[in-house]
Amino acid sequence: MTFDAAAYKTSTREQWQTAAAAWHRWGPQLEDWLGEATELMLDLAGVRPGSRVLDIAAGAGGQTLAAARRAGPEGAVLATDISPAILEFAAAEARRAGLGNVTTSEQDAERLNVHPRSFDAAISRPKRSARSKHSRTCSRCEASSCSQWGIPPTTSAPASRAATIRS
Ligand SMILES: C[S@@+](CC[C@H](N)C(=O)[O-])C[C@H]1O[C@@H](n2cnc3c(N)ncnc32)[C@H](O)[C@@H]1O
Repeated sequence: MTFDAAAYKTSTREQWQTAAAAWHRWGPQLEDWLGEATELMLDLAGVRPGSRVLDIAAGAGGQTLAAARRAGPEGAVLATDISPAILEFAAAEARRAGLGNVTTSEQDAERLNVHPRSFDAAISRPKRSARSKHSRTCSRCEASSCSQWGIPPTTSAPASRAATIRS
């Protein structure tokens, strides 16, 4: 049986569109579980006041908000995800927390459309869910210096620091 990368991507998106509300509902438990590791990820990525952070496969925004708090009003976080439904939860949580430095963008992590040098740091939590080892972009990525982060070259090139939490 051959692997259909396009069908896999489509079904991944559909699944997360459907699962968005449930993932958001589990947000407090997730932060309880992943909070410490998230802070470590932000440390490793060098996120500090004024940082411009790219969050890949941001989901309902748990780590987005943590990064936005660190980056502060002088910084910014762009939360990207393949599912627009889950990004609505991230945007709503950012508004609810009074974080005006968060924006969201529907994007496939394997084909990120971001401006070169727009970010100081790139984060992703957990890493594995955001990529398929079968995809064209990731097979290119394997050979590049960014493969250790699992982040496509278009992202890691402008980011001076990148860190992920592996699932
Ligand atoms: C396990 S959730 C993690 C969400 C969030 N980072 C967290 O830790 O709470 C995985 C997320 O990856 C997103 N995702 C899966 N494949 C993706 C892709 N190819 N590009 C962008 N996002 C993707 C899903 O929509 C989902 O929001």
